[in-house]
Formats: sequence, structure tokens, C-alpha cells
Amino acid sequence: MSLSSFSFPTSTLFGPGALAELPARLVRLGIERPLVVTDAGLLGTSAFRQLETTLGGAEKGSRWFLYSGVHPNPIERDVIEAAQACQTSKCDGVIAFGGGSPLDVGKAARLLVKRPGFKLADFYSEPDWSALVPLVAIPTTAGTGSEVGRSSVITLATTGRKAVLFHPELLAKQVILDPVLTRDLPPKLTAATGADALTHCIESYTCPMFHPMCDGIALEGVHLIVDALPRAFRNGGDLDARGKMLVAAAMGAVAFQKDLGIVHSLAHPLSTICGLHHGLANALCLVAGMKFCAERKPGIYRRVGSACGLDVVKSTDEEADHATIEFITRFLAGLGLNTRLREHGVREDNLDALAAQAWDDPCHKKNVVPVTTADIRKLYLEVM
Ligand SMILES: NC(=O)c1ccc[n+]([C@@H]2O[C@H](COP(=O)([O-])OP(=O)(O)OC[C@H]3O[C@@H](n4cnc5c(N)ncnc54)[C@H](O)[C@@H]3O)[C@@H](O)[C@H]2O)c1
Ligand SMILES: [Fe+2]
Repeated sequence: MSLSSFSFPTSTLFGPGALAELPARLVRLGIERPLVVTDAGLLGTSAFRQLETTLGGAEKGSRWFLYSGVHPNPIERDVIEAAQACQTSKCDGVIAFGGGSPLDVGKAARLLVKRPGFKLADFYSEPDWSALVPLVAIPTTAGTGSEVGRSSVITLATTGRKAVLFHPELLAKQVILDPVLTRDLPPKLTAATGADALTHCIESYTCPMFHPMCDGIALEGVHLIVDALPRAFRNGGDLDARGKMLVAAAMGAVAFQKDLGIVHSLAHPLSTICGLHHGLANALCLVAGMKFCAERKPGIYRRVGSACGLDVVKSTDEEADHATIEFITRFLAGLGLNTRLREHGVREDNLDALAAQAWDDPCHKKNVVPVTTADIRKLYLEVM
């Protein structure tokens, strides 16, 4: 029998107004000169203004510092620049503030603070990554769950592909989940980021790695999302829905320490080659990916269906999968996520490059059923 190892790590503070605790948490972590890592889009938001007020607007540049150059689908240069900003300002900790992009850059910048000049492509050559500067992670989207994860997804300069840098030392020392910070996230981004969380829960639940705790967390994540995401989409000010989405997103990321599946392998190249938002890319591929898996392993979505509130306990395997996939199809359509790839600028002549990158992507190797290169092309064409 093979052995498995589990862990449920991060200290998390949750609730409307939780951001107010940040200064005390920084003191507790011994951080006196934090670098805030974020993106330019955040600077004009009420979320960022709240952060500024909390840290003391007048003290920007003397007690706390800012790097706001993170790209959506972040690139290695963002990490290099954030690390340089940290060193130049003699920062002793990082506050990663934003969606998955700033969170991933904030996490990874600490690697290059420890080893300036290190090429992220060599990440797995296993140097010692202990004693990184401490990280506080504060999400302003509810999707990636990167705040509780041990990985950072960065497009490498050498390959132009998204690399997953995975290491337990990348974990945040403190997470703050404050629903007020996600209140002004526009409906389209609310939907797309929420669809990422939903995909994490569904793909991690069906991933065959042994981790019954994660399976339970994934199913509860689905349950929260089907209730809360439509409410957050329709009314951004619904703090109950915003809070449940933040928790569900974190749960999705805890669950996907099992791993993910084919949908994420299809989604990653859509971001690197065609610039699609990660959550949108997942949303557009999710139903096709589910149909593909259900045809080859009937019954895998029965418990996902139950988590969606469907009465599928006594249904046949095929009926349970069909009802669940129909539900997810309507659910995504209700969020405006029923468009085709070509409506987002993806062209058939991108197909070879997309399929090649998706094949190299590690996620499908842990998919619930085996995937071939021909399957990948067929799936892209289905959603084109
Ligand atoms: N590390 C992980 O475990 C993990 C998991 C999944 C995805 N990812 C990565 O995360 C990235 C996607 O993250 P994302 O979906 O959160 O999007 P994002 O971080 O790229 O943000 C998308 C946009 O939303 C804006 N925004 C963020 N918060 C806002 C707010 N409160 N109000 C208004 N605008 C706001 C940003 O300025 C940006 O323009 C991708 O690079 C993906 O590969 C990482
Ligand atoms: Fe994802």
C-alpha cells in the first residue's frame, strides 16, 4: 500500500473588516517594513484605499513600500522587479494584495530576495528555500485560493509557459479574508474568478489521488459556490455571498493539493498564448471537460450533483452525471459564462500551439481518466 501525506496549514482571519487587524498581525510576525505587492488595476479600487488607510497613507515610502507592476498572468520579470523593490527598500516582509496574480508574485518574490539572480526555471534544482521573508496574503478576488496554497504560477521567461513553482516554504504566515475587499470586484470578474474556484473544487474532487479530507472540502466548496456565486454576481454588496465565496475559493485551493485535471490543462495555454483570464478559460472548458470524463467513468459526478442540491442519489450513474453537467451548464450560463473561445479572440490557427502546451501541462496527468493528444484537440474544437 502506498503512503499519503496530508496537511492543512495556514492561519486565516476571516470576516468583514478583518483588514483592520493587519497592523497587529504584522507586529506579531516581526514585520516592520512590509512591501505591498499588487497590480496597477488595484490602485484605483476601494480595496486598495482601505489598505492604504490601514497601513497609514502618510507612511508610504517610509514605513511601508509598494510594487504595483504585476501583470495579469504574471511573468518572471514581475517577480524579479518585486524582489528588487523589496531589497531596495530594505523590506522585511511581503503583503501580497490582490487576485491570484499579485498573490503569486508576492509569494515568489521572496525566493529572489533570498537568491538574487536565481532563474525560476531552475526552481526544482532543490536549493534551500527555508527562511524566506514572511508573507501576509490578502485576496481581493475569490477564485484562485492562492493565499492558502504552496504554489505560485508564473510564466517563465525561458519557455513562455506557465510554471507551477511548488514549495511548502511559499505558504503565507497569515491570510486575511475580508469580504469587504471584494465588494467592488465587477460582475464579469466575480463570475470568472468564481468559476475558477468551482473548477478547482470539481477537478480536485474527481482527481484520483487519495485524500478523503480534501474530497470533503471540495464538495462543501461546490455547495457554497452554487449558493453564493450567483448572489455575489447579481449584487456585489452582498457581504454574506462575498464572504462565502472567499472561503470557498480558499477551500478549492486546499482541495487541489490533491491535484486538478484536464480542464486546467486546457485553460493554462489559453492564458499564455491567447491572454484569456484564467477563470474565464476554465469556465469555457469546464462542461466539455466534465462530459469527456463522465463518458469514460460514469457516476463520477454523482456527489458533485448532490453538493449542487440535486436529487441524484437513486439515479443511474449516467443520469446523475447528466443532471450534474446540465446543472453546471445552466449555472455558468446564468453568470454569462456560456460563450465560445472564438468570441474571446482564440483562432483555429492557435490550435497546434494550444494543444502542444496543454499536452505538456502537468494537470491532465492526474485527471480522473487518461487523456491523449487527440482528446485535447477534440476538446478545444468542441469549445472553439
Ligand atoms: N497559485 C495558485 O494556486 C493559483 C491557482 C489558480 C490560479 N492562479 C493564477 O492566478 C492568476 C489569476 O488570478 P485572478 O483570477 O484572481 O485574477 P488577477 O489577479 O489576474 O486579477 C484580475 C483583474 O482583477 C482586478 N481586481 C482584483 N481585485 C479587484 C477588486 N477587488 N476590485 C476591482 N478589481 C480587482 C485586477 O486589477 C486585475 O485587473 C492566474 O495567473 C492564475 O494562473 C494561481
Ligand atoms: Fe485555477
